[in-house]
Amino acid sequence: GLVNTREMFAKAIKGGYAIPAFNFNNMEQLQAIIGAVVETKSPVILQVSSGARKYANQTLLRYMAQGAVEYAKELGCPNPQIALHLDHGDSLELCKSCIEMGFSSVMIDGSHLPYDENVALTRSVVEYAHQYDVTVEGELGVLAGIEDDVVAEHHTYTEPAEVIDFVSKTGVDSLAISIGTSHGANKFTPEQCKRDANGILVPPPLRFDILAEIEKQIPGFPIVLHGSSSVPQDEVATINQYGGALKDAVGIPEEQLRQAAKSAVCKINIDSDGRLAMTAAIRKVFATNPAEFDPRKYLGPARESLKKLYMHKIINVLGSNDRL
Ligand code: G3H
Ligand code: 13P
Ligand code: NA
Ligand code: ZN
Repeated sequence: GLVNTREMFAKAIKGGYAIPAFNFNNMEQLQAIIGAVVETKSPVILQVSSGARKYANQTLLRYMAQGAVEYAKELGCPNPQIALHLDHGDSLELCKSCIEMGFSSVMIDGSHLPYDENVALTRSVVEYAHQYDVTVEGELGVLAGIEDDVVAEHHTYTEPAEVIDFVSKTGVDSLAISIGTSHGANKFTPEQCKRDANGILVPPPLRFDILAEIEKQIPGFPIVLHGSSSVPQDEVATINQYGGALKDAVGIPEEQLRQAAKSAVCKINIDSDGRLAMTAAIRKVFATNPAEFDPRKYLGPARESLKKLYMHKIINVLGSNDRL
């Protein structure tokens, strides 16, 4: 069945790689994820956001994820390592509901709350979740951008001096931090970037100095990076070539994520890159074959493109391949 994240993270820390945490909202995304992890022999965290629950229904998503374990075996993986994780849970009630529904891991995101309220809320989720052997991710620090309807103008980087107190008071199994990543396809404004010789936007680097300070405080403790899409410029170009209008889209360079994966960062969240790959593939079919109206004829290519993207992330960025 589904597994929690405990063993995955312990192995990832030791092995110097990171587990992919991919969001899913529909069947094609799930098939692409499972196809990619089976082919690369990678563990995986399937993430369901509140938006995904609203869009696709929690019951359906839950059975899809449980079915994915059987699907992986059918595809030739005898011992799949698949976690079903609530992404950005915002209340104890929501976390409880997901745990009752069979999720193996939850995030309680109290990062926007005053410190003591974050501790209290996170602690309450941990107390409940651990009774069912469900692992819990907490967050300290605020990512710039829009997160759960909360808009933050600037990053509030995680304060290394707070992390020992937070993890010991809450009992969380992993900690999401803020070191310069953010959600979506426009992670930096052009003003925040430099331009290389070809005019391509080069974003400011992640704060590896803060990550190192955090690691010093809680050595070997599992760290999570949200907002870790790289926003592949070829996908952006395809989208725009076929009628899209994505402006100044920029993400986290893969080289930096590769570096992070070698540290105590053992879960890297990627959603936007998949959205871009799907959209590019679908736009291309619509533009080049406007008479096509069978959804399988555009969702199929989108699924193929997604699977390639996930395999690339696993093998070339996270290093979670050949770990089963
Ligand atoms: O954290 C954000 C994830 O990319 C999920 O996005 O809330 O639009 O489903 P969503
Ligand atoms: P991206 O928007 O960078 O893909 O981040 C996804 C994420 O952090 C989900 O929690
Ligand atoms: Na790692
Ligand atoms: Zn996130």
